[in-house]
Amino acid sequence: MDKMVVVGNGPLKGSVATSGAKNAALPILFSTLLAEGEHVFRNVPKLKDIESTAELLQSLGCETRWDGDVFRVKVSRLQSYEASYDLVRKMRASFLCMGPMLAKYGEAVVSQPGGCAIGSRPIDLHLEGFKALGAEITQKEGYVHAATPKLKGSTFLFETVTVGGTENVMMAATLAKGKTVLENAAKEPEIVDLAEYLNKMGAKITGHGTSVITIEGVEKLTPAEHSIMPDRIEAGTLLIAGAITKGHVTVTKCVPAHLEALIIKMRDAGFKIETTKDTMTVFPCESWNAVDITTAPHPLFPTDLQAQYMALMAVANGTTVITETVFENRFMHVQELIRLGSDITPKTRVAVVRGRPNELTGAQVMATDLRASASLVLAGLVAKGETVVNRIYHLDRGYEKLEDKLSSLGAVIRRIE
Ligand code: EPZ
Repeated sequence: MDKMVVVGNGPLKGSVATSGAKNAALPILFSTLLAEGEHVFRNVPKLKDIESTAELLQSLGCETRWDGDVFRVKVSRLQSYEASYDLVRKMRASFLCMGPMLAKYGEAVVSQPGGCAIGSRPIDLHLEGFKALGAEITQKEGYVHAATPKLKGSTFLFETVTVGGTENVMMAATLAKGKTVLENAAKEPEIVDLAEYLNKMGAKITGHGTSVITIEGVEKLTPAEHSIMPDRIEAGTLLIAGAITKGHVTVTKCVPAHLEALIIKMRDAGFKIETTKDTMTVFPCESWNAVDITTAPHPLFPTDLQAQYMALMAVANGTTVITETVFENRFMHVQELIRLGSDITPKTRVAVVRGRPNELTGAQVMATDLRASASLVLAGLVAKGETVVNRIYHLDRGYEKLEDKLSSLGAVIRRIE
């Protein structure tokens, strides 16, 4: 079981590049099932979740391979329309293969993704969306069976904003007969990146990035090429790493426009942050103030940066109220931050963080989910002494060589196999 050892070592300095966005790459890789032939991708991050996606695509009969920094996916007529429990339980996002398979082959059998540490993560809205397009849905033995002679476009209102639901139904609608209108759709930048790739394949999607997405069904899609958008969550995590260590860090190959909510909050807290079209720079700041956040769908404060921001507020001046509205159990990092000396009171969906500037001390901590593990590494950068983050495999799912990136900025951090 890999561990990460982090030693508090003062301000980080220098510049670091963001990798491609995991949460754009995953749906885009599953969208290849809509078009037979070879798809070519650049800026795909080298992550565990990408390996899991490749494994699932291969299990369906596709070929995937790295060609230097280019990731190629060759799709031929599928030999199977079944995504097995063993593969789906490793990565819930595997459920995103259902929409493309249903649209292309009229059939899909996908294991129901289980819950996970941060919440129950239901898929009911994905299934309601498929039904609205005319699919027959049955669930048995832990698998969802979807079938249809041909999907038909319709209007569907998501009663909750769901990133995965919007992606799955949008992908299915690309080959449906007629027009589909998705209302109360998610507006995350990853949805826009997926829609842009689908349109490169010949889909007719408009409104992506707004809450109303329109998809005119087409007969056929053909493979294309795409460079995955930068990972805004990794970029935000690296910016916070510079901030929390009172450092001077520039994050490059990112899109600051995707992180306005975070930048506004950090500036309110007292940080000087300069941005260009594709870089963000945080300047040394001796002390910063507590600033409340409430997580919500884009463009509001992203739930995927809540844990990292909590680490920053754990050493702020004053008390911060952090409200998590997206997932029901996304405070698993709180008890671990407390082990490092933070003063945090978690309630249902709200955590009260009493800042203790320069008071954290290193300890053994346990990663519980992807973003919680990032939060513990950030706290370890400022805790006195050595912090050991256990179960670091959570981190590897979503961060490409984070220890190398932080070391290049002067952090003292190493992985123990
Ligand atoms: C995506 O998960 C991301 N994962 C998550 O990132 C991210 O936290 C989340 O969106 C919110 O931004 C990927 O893109 C692979 P949702 P997703 O459907 O699609 C409820 C990370 O750290 N809901 O937008 O699963 C659900 O319970 C991960 O990279 C239903 O009720 O999230 C939740 O409360 C963690 N029914 C809310 O919607 C449904 O059918 C938002 O979930 C679907 C969702």
